[in-house]
Amino acid sequence: MSLARATAPEGVPPLPPGPPYAASELMDWRGLRFNLPPGDERLPALADGGVEPSAPLANLAGAHAAWATWAEGMDFLDPQSPVADLKALEQALYLHHWAPWLGAVASPRPPRVLDLGGGIGRFTMPCLDAGWDVELVDPDLESLRRAVWHAAGRLGRLDVSWTTGERLPEGPAFDLVFAVEVFCYVEEPHAVLARVLSRLRPGGHVLFSVEARHGWAACGDAAPGTLEAFLDDQPVYAPGDRFVRTYTADDIHQLFVGGAGSGRRGAIEALLPTHYVLSGPFEAAAGPVDLPRLLDLEARLRGHRIAAPLNRAWTGVVRYD
Ligand SMILES: C[S@@+](CC[C@H](N)C(=O)[O-])C[C@H]1O[C@@H](n2cnc3c(N)ncnc32)[C@H](O)[C@@H]1O
Repeated sequence: MSLARATAPEGVPPLPPGPPYAASELMDWRGLRFNLPPGDERLPALADGGVEPSAPLANLAGAHAAWATWAEGMDFLDPQSPVADLKALEQALYLHHWAPWLGAVASPRPPRVLDLGGGIGRFTMPCLDAGWDVELVDPDLESLRRAVWHAAGRLGRLDVSWTTGERLPEGPAFDLVFAVEVFCYVEEPHAVLARVLSRLRPGGHVLFSVEARHGWAACGDAAPGTLEAFLDDQPVYAPGDRFVRTYTADDIHQLFVGGAGSGRRGAIEALLPTHYVLSGPFEAAAGPVDLPRLLDLEARLRGHRIAAPLNRAWTGVVRYD
């Protein structure tokens, strides 16, 4: 549901014309703990600390707990966050790989972008800075609040919706979709993709990343007790904390171009194994890196006979006719 439906006990500031709303006019929303009507009726209970009604929604229970215990790590767009630099480097890595597509978005008006499962807006912010229109959809309400706070004062226009990808709202067509680290967490990847494609214009692109099948188990943040999932090729499930559907290259082809039931023909224009270092199995051994060093290490690990299949993530681009 749009910011138009936001409420707060103390009332909400007036909105400029929209949606989407000029981010420059949202300064009075900074710090406001607004509420939104949920687009998925299961979300309020989870936001209150409830148990996940289905395994994939464990990520939302985990996010709720993390906001209570480690808000400074969750809000990494705050320059004071202890992981701000790391997350900025990861953002730069993604933007480096997607630069050719971001530079080629052609539209007679500011491009319309969907940031699906956009969290606190890591990819919303650069789009706003470019003057684009962004709809950020996420089932974690605290993330949406932070995204609005970080967006305030920027160039483009924003709206946010508190819902899951499965319940993506209706609206005008998007030119571009970011789905960064999202299809590994949703309940029904094919259903989510079909919803997204129902709002992607012909010739539009989906820029995506997902967790890879094999790299995660050797990483520093692997959940204790989940190694069986690696051995059995199953999703990673730690109740109340996380659920991760991991992908092989074949799984990615199957999801994005193998017949989502959407009637749209997709072509994968890029698919790269990434995150050998950042959040990956070689992070500790690599030590501190900047972007050029990171790109060099990733390229060499991608070509290494042992390391190659241990990527933590896949980063890709799909175009739909
Ligand atoms: C690892 S975070 C990535 C956030 C953001 N895309 C980024 O790259 O910074 C995963 C995000 O997916 C969201 N998510 C989880 N389940 C979802 C669902 N069913 N539909 C849409 N988003 C979902 C989470 O709330 C979270 O913000």
